[in-house]
Amino acid sequence: MPEPYPESLFHHAERLRKIPLRTLFAEDRERSFLCRNIEGIYVDASRQRLDAAAWADLLRVAEQVEPARSDLFAGMPVNETENRPALHPALRDPRPEGLVVEGVDILSEVHRQHQRMREFAETCATRWQTVINLGIGGSDLGPRMLCETFPRASGAPDVRFVSTLDPEELNAALHGCDANQTFFIVASKTFTTEETQRNFSAVKQWLVEQGVGSGEVMEHFAATTAATDRAQESGIDAQRIFPFWEGVGGRYSVWSTVGLPVVLHAGWGAFEELLAGAHAMDEHFREAEAESNAPLLLALLMLWNHTFLGAATRAVLPYNQGLRTLPRFLQQLQMESLGKRADTHGELQEVAAPVVWGGSANDGAHAFFQLLHQGSQVVPVDAIIARGDLENERERALLAQCLSQLDLLASGRTSEEVEPADGVAPGHYVHPGDRPSTLFLMEDLSPRRVGALLALFEHATFSVAVFWGINAFDQFGVEYGKRLSRSLAEALQDSSVPAPGHTLDALLDRLRHR
Ligand code: F6P
Repeated sequence: MPEPYPESLFHHAERLRKIPLRTLFAEDRERSFLCRNIEGIYVDASRQRLDAAAWADLLRVAEQVEPARSDLFAGMPVNETENRPALHPALRDPRPEGLVVEGVDILSEVHRQHQRMREFAETCATRWQTVINLGIGGSDLGPRMLCETFPRASGAPDVRFVSTLDPEELNAALHGCDANQTFFIVASKTFTTEETQRNFSAVKQWLVEQGVGSGEVMEHFAATTAATDRAQESGIDAQRIFPFWEGVGGRYSVWSTVGLPVVLHAGWGAFEELLAGAHAMDEHFREAEAESNAPLLLALLMLWNHTFLGAATRAVLPYNQGLRTLPRFLQQLQMESLGKRADTHGELQEVAAPVVWGGSANDGAHAFFQLLHQGSQVVPVDAIIARGDLENERERALLAQCLSQLDLLASGRTSEEVEPADGVAPGHYVHPGDRPSTLFLMEDLSPRRVGALLALFEHATFSVAVFWGINAFDQFGVEYGKRLSRSLAEALQDSSVPAPGHTLDALLDRLRHR
């Protein structure tokens, strides 16, 4: 269990609630103690509601990240409830060997899989026009996002993604596909997830309906999975099964063979650079002192905004459309890692994990920013933008959008500063301000830079879980939900099957007798 937080932090929170950010900036225009520059990402947290005294006391909490951080990198069972390591840092470790987990030197296996992915990608480029990834959650969001972020390599297949049970999503992905030129990756750590298994069955049927000989159907499939036996039993050739370990969490798996669609889309070099960027962030997280450690800064800001200042949600707002799926990716990473009440001893705690939401920031400025600016609740913002070319008018305008919104959130507009229309009360125009944000100003959206960004958020998530005393790597809540839907589907089909739960009887009657 974590140490009790310094009592002074509660006093700092009460004190700082009354000090406008304008005042803090008037006292120190740089506020550089809240800014980090790492791997070409300028993390500017100067518009967070902190001063040097409060930050100094927050740093005392940072000490709690050890020994868990060392255990993470040593491949120890940091996932205590499932007695597993969390191996995502190992997946991007360039060393040829040297990390033995449960008697296996996993780094040599990581590099063997890299070689298999690379060779497979080379054959794919000429063999298939379209590759469709069938996966959901961590078996979808990471590769889906990165295929939107990185340019398609010359000669690369058209890589598409299907995640849900909605038949219209699958139909749209198959639209225009030549069955003889279409390949599928069944992406599933457990190889049991209903959505993915049903899509797997549906596309097998589609291939046959499209005239692919029954003996050739399985030539159209590969699997990325930790359940290699199940994948092989499904008929997928072992040569096209790309395994990863149980010790890799789904939401932490884009670095594993689950990232195969990224290799097919952007090329092996891009994926290698992605891994290198993440590894560089790993080294920074391991070695940097707390006061200059970027993942610890983000973790302490989550602790500060949600435990001490009581913010219930956090908005992830990318300004570049290439990162439009980042909010969904971070939703899974952080809400599936932090959305818990039981601490590592199973004791129920009041954990202030935020609801993480977001979307295109530029679109949002014409939609949800109204609430961010003038709503009653304070929503901390993470704004992500590549600096772009300031000589380019549109890129300059996009950056101006970003910076002006963050300043307005922080500075507000007083009733003396607004210019109300005749007969309209000034209050309608006032922006309360003091709305905190962190700016992630990226040199570019290169694979190396994006790899560093994702690893930054992974380590921040892990660290704040340590501060909150919870396990970042299990997900009992969603796993039970996976089981429920199967039994309800049976009850929907057969009225003699009792419905699970306590609230559905009347609705099921209505559905059955419609
Ligand atoms: O719903 C929970 C979950 O297990 C996620 O953690 C995971 O990313 C997703 O479902 C898909 O699971 P699988 O990769 O085993 O199909």
